[in-house]
Amino acid sequence: MQVVVVGSGAREHALAWRLQQSPGLTELHAAPGNPGIAALGRCHPVRADDADGLLSLALTLGADLVVIGPEGPLVAGIADGLRMNGIPVFGPSAAAAQIEGSKAFAKDVLRAAGVPTAKTLSVARPPCVVKADGLASGKGVFVCRTADEIDEALLAVTALGGEFVIEELLEGEEVSLFALSDGARLVPLGAAQDFKRIGDGDAGPNTGGMGAYSPVPWFADADELVEQVHRPVIDELARRGTPFVGCLFAGLMITADGPKVLEFNARFGDPETQVLLPRLEGDLLELLLAAALGDLSGVAASMTADAAVTVVLAAPDYPARSDYAGAPIKGVENAEAAGALVFHGGTAVRDGTVVTNGGRILSVTGTGTTVADARARAYAAVDLISYEGMQFRRDIAAVASG
Ligand code: AMP
Ligand code: GLY
Repeated sequence: MQVVVVGSGAREHALAWRLQQSPGLTELHAAPGNPGIAALGRCHPVRADDADGLLSLALTLGADLVVIGPEGPLVAGIADGLRMNGIPVFGPSAAAAQIEGSKAFAKDVLRAAGVPTAKTLSVARPPCVVKADGLASGKGVFVCRTADEIDEALLAVTALGGEFVIEELLEGEEVSLFALSDGARLVPLGAAQDFKRIGDGDAGPNTGGMGAYSPVPWFADADELVEQVHRPVIDELARRGTPFVGCLFAGLMITADGPKVLEFNARFGDPETQVLLPRLEGDLLELLLAAALGDLSGVAASMTADAAVTVVLAAPDYPARSDYAGAPIKGVENAEAAGALVFHGGTAVRDGTVVTNGGRILSVTGTGTTVADARARAYAAVDLISYEGMQFRRDIAAVASG
């Protein structure tokens, strides 16, 4: 089977790593991929948002499956163009990806589906949350506890394009909950917790995610919750004539009144995928292909009881900038020899040397029988890696390590 992974981050490297272990795989391709993925398959110089380029690549390769990683291409309708040409795609249509692409659309679906979520407010009054409507890479959400913060948030969402929603501020622990869907059926894929702020103790600005762990020991009923949270949304999208095929990712707040949805994403999480896939037993290609072909019946995803922890190594000036290029990276082989999985997020090869090229540079995953054990292994591996200005959190998964 010829499989194309679309994207170039650590999430796509983790997908490629797991797909590459599948007995059904003939050849793995990526567009555009990264130096980590290049060690597993063939990278093609086609951007993830180049619809024509991806279609001609998939047709030329005779692709049996295209797996789309990032939200941008999904919301832009890359999956639709491929499907119209008969190519099986893991990833939703533009219409179904609106569940992530538009906060207002997501609210409407959640309301129709009766899934608990934050109340929408008609006026901004503290405390509340102001959210830009469209995709903003985590930078469009403003938690406001004072009137001044509301003023700043309204200015910021206006600068982002104008459309926004205001909602109730929820308090509690956040969890990411994943399930695969073929448009009708669901296969739960487990839960993870990610760490969104740049600094230890959740200090500083939001990022794309600085680390994650799975399983979440205090969150035992993950699979049942998929029935309450994902099921009604999958049914509602199918009822509207826009079935969701792909990974449906719920960001939940576990409040005193029970779990409530903060947001839905139309894709795998980054960095959550770097801790979920090492725990997956069985064949990822079989799962993704079954979803893409519209028949997940009889396919299950079982997760090991083992734990995984990933630590993101970022650029010195991340998240303000995501273009840290050219610093040589040392020690990746040592970290791998120590048993860690090192997923490339923002790297390049220059004169035969792997160098930094982005904001989130590497994602270093350790596994073990407990979260504490996995965490110790992840950090031991991190300590073997270095580049100038390397920035990372020291407290990933500490809360779950007893
Ligand atoms: P979103 O992009 O909607 O997931 O929001 C990004 C982050 O903002 C979430 O992961 C939460 O930490 C925070 N957030 C979003 N909505 C709320 C809310 N209603 N109450 C509290 N925090 C929120
Ligand atoms: N880790 C959160 C996300 O992928 O959006």
